Amino acid sequence: MKDLNIGMIGYGFMGKAHSNAYSQASHFFPGEYRPVLKALCARNRDKAAGFAENWGYESIETDWRELLKRDDIDAVDICTPNNLHKEIAIAAAEAGKMILCEKPLAMDVAEGEEMCAAVEKAGVRNMVWYNYRRVPAVTLAKQLIDEGRLGKVFHYRANFLQDWTINADVPQGGAATWRLDAEAAGSGVTGDLLAHCIDTALWLNGGIQDVSAMTETFVKERMHAETGQKEAVKIDDACSFLCHFSNGSLGLFESTRYARGHKALYTLEINGEHASIRWDLHDLHRLEYFDHGDDSIVRGWRSIHVSDGDQPYMGNWWVPGLQIGYEHSFIHQVADFLKSLETDAVVSPNFRDALETQKVCDAVLASAAERSWKSI
Ligand SMILES: NC(=O)c1ccc[n+]([C@@H]2O[C@H](COP(=O)([O-])OP(=O)(O)OC[C@H]3O[C@@H](n4cnc5c(N)ncnc54)[C@H](O)[C@@H]3O)[C@@H](O)[C@H]2O)c1
Repeated sequence: MKDLNIGMIGYGFMGKAHSNAYSQASHFFPGEYRPVLKALCARNRDKAAGFAENWGYESIETDWRELLKRDDIDAVDICTPNNLHKEIAIAAAEAGKMILCEKPLAMDVAEGEEMCAAVEKAGVRNMVWYNYRRVPAVTLAKQLIDEGRLGKVFHYRANFLQDWTINADVPQGGAATWRLDAEAAGSGVTGDLLAHCIDTALWLNGGIQDVSAMTETFVKERMHAETGQKEAVKIDDACSFLCHFSNGSLGLFESTRYARGHKALYTLEINGEHASIRWDLHDLHRLEYFDHGDDSIVRGWRSIHVSDGDQPYMGNWWVPGLQIGYEHSFIHQVADFLKSLETDAVVSPNFRDALETQKVCDAVLASAAERSWKSI
């Protein structure tokens, strides 16, 4: 086995998810390359050391620029808030490092273009962590669509619903609530949640031509965790949009952090001429499937428990009937990245793919601001 030395920047939610994925990938998907947890970078030395010890990182850095100077780092993993993606990614590309960058790719399309140009100029392998593509039930949905089982697609519907910012006392900014601060996040639910729905949609159903959106910021002012002052909230708390896909189907997307009772309800449904599919993150190992070609007396929605060795990724896990979870989507993404080193194939979604999602996000926000349809 050859080592792929990882330097990870940030040790929050995604830092954990990725560290776990690097630790597990080669055990379940053995191949030519094996990730090595070479260095963890975070600004606070004590916290970095604690995280590094817990997960088995060999060393720590407190400045990402120092990490990029190291010859013993092959790939840089960007797990920081969105406003740092561009600067780190461009510097990493210039340092000749492979890059695994969290989503959304950038704060906006202009930043994303610069990032694409940098990785393409440097010729470094790059990937963005739109991990839901690699939930086996979602990958199976892609397989069913590509096999033509749905026929002509009429409708694509997706929701991503949460409820954690309803309380007006939740601050904006700072380590825990940077998602509410436009300076750190770029946008609200559009870049945070809808970006996932859009990435999956572009993958499953092809390009989006135009969008008509509305956004709302329900709580207009929040205390900023860094300044201690009440400041205007500049992110979108909720966003809904309609769109036309290039294949002629109609899209309907909704995301909010104000859907009381929903913590992370990502659902999607696709209605085709011959069949429909439906998926729900809360039941992520199941794919609902309706096939109009079934004998009419038994025709109905079937719930496919995606755990069989014939189904995507599942041959590398347990025995049929035993399911896997959220964290495995990241393990699959690492496994596919490692495989791409062997085959020299492009691994998706790369920066260019993620730029397409960014274009839709930017158009959605512009449409809402101008109250008009926007072409992509
Ligand atoms: N793929 C997914 O499903 C998914 C889920 C959650 C978050 N994300 C994305 O991952 C990224 C991080 O989100 P998170 O939820 O892990 O956030 P988080 O707040 O839990 O972690 C962010 C980390 O970045 C570190 N950081 C901030 N500035 C830094 C700097 N200058 N140098 C080094 N480290 C720095 C923080 O200390 C923290 O460890 C975001 O871009 C987010 O959109 C993706």
